[in-house]
Amino acid sequence: YYGSVISPVSLTSFKALPRCLLAVASTGNIDWIVEDVEDSMVQETMAAHGYIDVDVVCLREGEFLLPGMVDTHTHAPQVPNIGSGQQYELLDWLENITFPMESRFADLDFARRTYPLVVRRIIDSGTTTCSYYGSLHLEATKILAEIVNEYGQRAFVGKCNMDRNTPAHYIEPSAELSVSATKTLIAHIKQLPSHSHSAEPLVQPILTPRFAISCSSSLLKSLGEVAASDPNLRIQTHVSENPNEIAFTMSLFPESASYTGVYDASGLLRANTILAHAVHLNDEEIALIAERKAGISHCPTSNFNLNSGVAPIGLYLDRGIKVGLGTDVSGGYSPSILNAIQNASIASKVIAMQHRGEAPAPGAFGNRQLSVASLLYLATLGGAEVCSLEKSVGSFSPGKSFDALVVSVRNDAGNPAIWGSDSAPRDLAGMLEQFFFTGDDRNISRVYVQGKLIGGTSFSR
Ligand code: GUN
Ligand code: FE
Repeated sequence: YYGSVISPVSLTSFKALPRCLLAVASTGNIDWIVEDVEDSMVQETMAAHGYIDVDVVCLREGEFLLPGMVDTHTHAPQVPNIGSGQQYELLDWLENITFPMESRFADLDFARRTYPLVVRRIIDSGTTTCSYYGSLHLEATKILAEIVNEYGQRAFVGKCNMDRNTPAHYIEPSAELSVSATKTLIAHIKQLPSHSHSAEPLVQPILTPRFAISCSSSLLKSLGEVAASDPNLRIQTHVSENPNEIAFTMSLFPESASYTGVYDASGLLRANTILAHAVHLNDEEIALIAERKAGISHCPTSNFNLNSGVAPIGLYLDRGIKVGLGTDVSGGYSPSILNAIQNASIASKVIAMQHRGEAPAPGAFGNRQLSVASLLYLATLGGAEVCSLEKSVGSFSPGKSFDALVVSVRNDAGNPAIWGSDSAPRDLAGMLEQFFFTGDDRNISRVYVQGKLIGGTSFSR
């Protein structure tokens, strides 16, 4: 690939390279990158690396390569509900909107019809790695994992564990059956055919205790034992999202010092645990999460939409906690990480407004608004860290997988919100900012995972 390349470096900086030559091996891993190569030197630079008679994809003015985005938290069976139920807060929304839709996935024909549309839409939104919650159903979640694998997205797929405090039409009959179905799903996903040279399989299982409210103590304990038997197994759950949810949780676990402590007591809080929301954590919980090196999935669209609150992300970053972005569909109303980026920016500005005129909080991020560099980091490398995949995805460097987007902010991309002349060179960092705040699927022309084209507007299906 020859042209403009953007890649995160840290929470405060990124590279914007206008004339970059980036080589991808047949394995789908990045072989080498040379910055600032003149047009006239492209063939010579390739030959110097032993690349003779190799095709070069030349990006046009107004196009750039960006690492694929990471959605650290979404619910596949809630996608049909997008945009419904914003009048509710969490617990009423679950009962009135969410559980009725998820329960429909007992019908495998419905799952087979729906999941391909869901996965296609998420890939075309530019999400190359996605951590999915399925429904509570084993069979429908197997179908979800198979479709993700067939479509070539990098993903974690889990079935919800929920054996109490949910409606009779949507609950697992016992902790034992919940655990045995989970083990069956893990085994099923581990034997899916692999079509790639990815270091870890593209699609992997993830333990998914839905949240403490829906899990009996014995279920949490058994899931902790499953986790202990497989240190590489990722874990995902919800934490401290909504005040009523927190109060209910504490009433169910009176022996626990905190909501986060419930998961810790069962061995479910560790370096590959993804904690969604984390809006209302107290200081002890923040310290515990930092100590366990667990990651936080910041889901700002959902946090606004369900009136949950504004997560203090700057504070978490200052404590060294890993943070990525999550769409949390359909708590969030968009499957696109671009929308999560926009709302993460707004959420950080809400916090900055609340602290206007105060002396800055100690630390680099504190109560300040997030920069474009920080937003880029959260959407890519930060998400990769939260998924424990930072060695293989999230940025461009030799040896990492080519999980990438070709972004186009050209007029012919067909998004009238981004206006620019294609013939005049434009500032690359400015193009990134415009893409973040006004871009959508129309600006994502190619989506690659492990070097393979799997989506985007120029992908033929
Ligand atoms: N807590 C438990 N289940 C859910 C869910 O499906 N969405 C959100 N946002 N929070 C939850
Ligand atoms: Fe969620």
